Amino acid sequence: MPIVLRAAPTPTAPGLLLRPWRDGDADELLAAYRDPLLRRWTRQPLTGRADVRAFLRRSRQGWAAGCRFSIAVLEPTDTGERLVAHVLLKEVTPGRPYAEVGYWTAGSARGRGVAPRAVDAVSAWAFARFAAAGLTRLELLHQVDNPASCRVAQKSGYAFVEVLPARPPFPRDGHRHVRHRP
Ligand SMILES: CC(C)(COP(=O)(O)OP(=O)(O)OC[C@H]1O[C@@H](n2cnc3c(N)ncnc32)[C@H](O)[C@@H]1OP(=O)(O)O)[C@@H](O)C(=O)NCCC(=O)NCCS
Repeated sequence: MPIVLRAAPTPTAPGLLLRPWRDGDADELLAAYRDPLLRRWTRQPLTGRADVRAFLRRSRQGWAAGCRFSIAVLEPTDTGERLVAHVLLKEVTPGRPYAEVGYWTAGSARGRGVAPRAVDAVSAWAFARFAAAGLTRLELLHQVDNPASCRVAQKSGYAFVEVLPARPPFPRDGHRHVRHRP
């Protein structure tokens, strides 16, 4: 079920194109994961070619199984397009009303609203695509010491719901945000 989604440009940033990961994304994916902030907030950082191959394989398997949707976010450039972010929709289960989103933005693309626009596009797609499967709410979790992620939640329509107590593997309390199907 390949998809292509788009997010509108802003006055200061180009539009976004969202699609499943491809093998040809490997170099840009590895480069993105060299960023220390991304490594800090990712539970399974990609540190070499083998990790990237496993990531791309898991992505393909998730799409094939219809339960985990790993999405590359690209911006147009003069010569083509470049990878700027990742959005993950996970734990989609028929009959279960909720699923979860996760995301990162490549270091060089931060501060231009990439993650909120990409999360908004994926969320709208998910509610339309999985309405018949009973999906009524999407959850977004982040640790309290990640205010940039809290801003992404707010800007992409995920209302704050509650503080989650710290529990392994998360050393600090977290926030749970929720966006409901329109
Ligand atoms: C959190 C993250 C995804 C935000 O992505 P983004 O595309 O930069 O999103 P935005 O442009 O909307 O910026 C969100 C907030 O980041 C902060 N920010 C702004 N410019 C920034 C920059 N150049 N670099 C870092 N953070 C910046 C601001 O607090 C901003 O909020 P504001 O719009 O109210 O000022 C990104 O910082 C990231 O990838 N972090 C590491 C991975 C991560 O934390 N993932 C989420 C785990 S729950």
